[in-house]
Amino acid sequence: MADLSINFAGIKSPNPFWVASAPPSNTAYQCHRAFEAGWGGVVWKTIGDPILNVSSRYSSHTINGTRMAGFNNIELISDRSIETNFREIKECAEAWPDRAVIASLMTDTRENWHEMMQRAVDSGAAGVELNFGCPHGMCERGMGSAVGQNPDVMETIVDWVMEVAQLPVIVKLTPNITDVTIPARAAKRAGANAISLINTINSITKVDLDRLIPEPYVDGKSAHGGYCGPAVKPIALNMLENCASDPEVNLPISGIGGISNWRDAAEFIALGSGSVQVCTAIMHYGFRIVEDMIEGLSDYLDSKGMHSITELQGKALKTVDRWENLNLNYKRIAAIDYDSCIGCNLCFVACEDGAHQAIALTDAAARGLGPGRLPGKPIPEIKETECVGCNLCSIVCPVDNCITMVDVDTGKDAMSWKNYQEGLNAGTISKIPAHH
Ligand SMILES: Cc1cc2nc3c(=O)[nH]c(=O)nc-3n(C[C@H](O)[C@H](O)[C@H](O)COP(=O)(O)O)c2cc1C
Ligand code: SF4
Ligand code: SF4
Repeated sequence: MADLSINFAGIKSPNPFWVASAPPSNTAYQCHRAFEAGWGGVVWKTIGDPILNVSSRYSSHTINGTRMAGFNNIELISDRSIETNFREIKECAEAWPDRAVIASLMTDTRENWHEMMQRAVDSGAAGVELNFGCPHGMCERGMGSAVGQNPDVMETIVDWVMEVAQLPVIVKLTPNITDVTIPARAAKRAGANAISLINTINSITKVDLDRLIPEPYVDGKSAHGGYCGPAVKPIALNMLENCASDPEVNLPISGIGGISNWRDAAEFIALGSGSVQVCTAIMHYGFRIVEDMIEGLSDYLDSKGMHSITELQGKALKTVDRWENLNLNYKRIAAIDYDSCIGCNLCFVACEDGAHQAIALTDAAARGLGPGRLPGKPIPEIKETECVGCNLCSIVCPVDNCITMVDVDTGKDAMSWKNYQEGLNAGTISKIPAHH
């Protein structure tokens, strides 16, 4: 069985699954429950000068009946006292010595950062995470994403923290920025031991069309909030890849954003994460989801002949390249498995109106489908010479593996856009005519 244990920038944990700093990591009670379920680490709900929260706080982006496909909140950092939070961290750290309890911190002045760091050490926390990502409320007070969006300020603050750091320091980054590698590099320059990403994305999930007020509703008003959950996973993976492949960042990365199951976690690890953090999926389904995550990741590593997390870590990174380096002479086309086709023709409509008119409708008998199989239904047929291999039909098809994309041998050597431009300039390649 594969070894799931990790050593993340000096923070040891029996598996890479950490509870993210959020409502599920608010109290010792929840931390005990998380560890009992099997979580390897808990990043405590951000500790700072206690704040006041509003009622209500959350809203959901429901997609085709899938609740919390995207999740939005206008909650601030912990509303419990600094003393209570550190006392409970100490209790959990002592009760679970093989797990990682990480203190998430947010404050303002140099003196206050120094004091918070000392308190974290005294609490027995395994590390600290600096919250420079909260996109509402705290940033209006000059903290959270107000810092994360200003790399120079962030560098100064991380510098203050590193002056006294006796524990591994993880800098949590905001995605509300054009190029995430810029604050990531600032964290590196200031001496941080690791980064984590992403915090939540600025969002308004919906407008109540009766009251004409967005959600979440607070006494006749609303405010923009932070978006997370499955819908943000692609954005998080892209930012992870940006940082993981940047030689100037070169730091361990804790991946966060829409992770709900072992597959999501494996994808984050394959793109360079050393640990993964989960919030929305726990808020939706509870701590026990970690059981399937542990079993699924372990079985996956076994099936790939990998013995540890490090063998998977970053394995997909080298396959992500700039567009200009992709092979223009590679071709794939769609192929339909008529044994599983249900004749819904969604593929035909999508290709006809939304892609390249490369699917024709033919009758089932003409395809050799016997009587009783889709009787009288027109069924799709790929026009192989028209198909540009865009994948759309295979994406819309409701039957798994009914439309697969198959490689076509073009007989041509690989040629990237870059090669093409170089060839044109050198006169060794002639211009390829545009499509009619
Ligand atoms: C209600 C709520 C409160 C949150 N509070 C914090 C916080 O106090 N500190 C912090 O660093 N991140 C906070 N987050 C962000 C999460 O830690 C995490 O970065 C984000 O939700 C993305 O992960 P997910 O898609 O698994 O939810 C909060 C998220 C939610 C939904
Ligand atoms: S891959 Fe694209 S172009 Fe080809 S048949 Fe499907 S939708 Fe049409
Ligand atoms: S979308 Fe899939 S199931 Fe529906 S007609 Fe096309 S191939 Fe068949």
